[in-house]
Amino acid sequence: MLDELRPIVVDLLAEDFHERAHTLYDELREQSPVALVELPEQPGRGFWMVTGYAAAEAALRDARLANDPRTLLSPAQRAARAAAQLPGAPNTMLLSDPPEHTRLRRIAQRAFTPRSVTALRPTVVRHAERLLDQADKAARDGDGTVDLLHTYAYPLSLAALGEILGFPEAWHPGLEVLAVRAATASTPLSAPDPELRAQLEGYARDLILLKRDNPADDLVSRLVHPASGDDTLSNSELMAMIGLLMAAGFETSASLIASATASLLTHPAQWAALRDDPELAAPTVEETMRYWGPVESATVRYAVEPFELGGRRIRTGDRVLVFPAAANRDPSHVTDPHRFDIHRNPRPHLGFSGGIHNCVGAALARTEGRIGLNTLIARWPDLRLATDPTELRWRPGMGLRGLRRLPVRP
Ligand code: HEM
Repeated sequence: MLDELRPIVVDLLAEDFHERAHTLYDELREQSPVALVELPEQPGRGFWMVTGYAAAEAALRDARLANDPRTLLSPAQRAARAAAQLPGAPNTMLLSDPPEHTRLRRIAQRAFTPRSVTALRPTVVRHAERLLDQADKAARDGDGTVDLLHTYAYPLSLAALGEILGFPEAWHPGLEVLAVRAATASTPLSAPDPELRAQLEGYARDLILLKRDNPADDLVSRLVHPASGDDTLSNSELMAMIGLLMAAGFETSASLIASATASLLTHPAQWAALRDDPELAAPTVEETMRYWGPVESATVRYAVEPFELGGRRIRTGDRVLVFPAAANRDPSHVTDPHRFDIHRNPRPHLGFSGGIHNCVGAALARTEGRIGLNTLIARWPDLRLATDPTELRWRPGMGLRGLRRLPVRP
């Protein structure tokens, strides 16, 4: 497989990857929107890296690319695994394919419909106001600055997710530390860290126990006490579902709020435009998703049969890694792609992925982003960065893009 081509060596796991990512994407895309690459630390294990918009969109929609690597096993291999009772990692919806994916997604989706998310808006506004009260006091009591990421963006996203899943506020600090460590340590190309995984499973188990005995009006209570047999999950599916929602459901939204704020503060005319017209929060969120989207690369896909993608021959078993971050800045899709511009003519982006695995929480994330920005700008219309913009740093960890800190001066 892949032997007739020589892979390009790309250092995706470098500490400073996010500082250099867009230069790399532009160089690769110029050669081919679907390039054969390998990591320096994984020689001989090439994969297809997708940086072009058209190829990325096609790949995310293609049923010949599976999310579950076990799809590639032959019936004999599957039978052998079953006979040996090998521990089958319980699949999350993200790492499964139809029909399992369809069933798991249907069960979770109800909590994230536009209607449910609209009903949550007043609560999100209340949390945003409360957190800004606290941040205001912290700034006054301290040196006049606050780290907006940790005083506002994370707590706001955690509060919104906590309302949906039903976990207590006392868990917020621990979950925040865990999510930042996981986002830094894990990439779609590395095995999950067993310690972090165990911690996440611990939270999921505790939440299941809490809701088993004290059901309330939240998603986890409904999963633990399903209304019909169709909605019943096995124990391992339940753990996997809650773990996925906790892992995917707030770190990304927090990064969206922080990256949008940083982009606006480094483009003061656009900050002023949003201050004068709150309706611009929606295009600001979409432009941030395109320009500094929190998810840099999708999860690995596996070809289950040969096909062509972006002019390249993909063979059975090949791995394909789509980079929404690269696709969203493809000059054949967006004019002047490296310019942040909330007034641009909107074009579709892949920041929430595409195809059947498109983000189930997209409506919630957009709502948090819009409310987060509008509440912030109404409270602190003259907000400034409390650091030189060149000092802002991205966290390591290739799969997700998030700032390490966002020091601001109200
Ligand atoms: C700005 C915030 C967010 C971004 C950028 C984001 C991005 C994404 C992306 C790119 C995927 C697909 C990955 C792939 O195709 O391999 C995805 C899937 C998913 N996201 Fe999000 N997400 C965000 C917020 C959320 C929230 C708030 C939740 C839930 C509370 C959530 C839950 C999920 C789930 C469950 C999946 C798997 C969907 C499936 O496999 O069918 N996400 N997200």
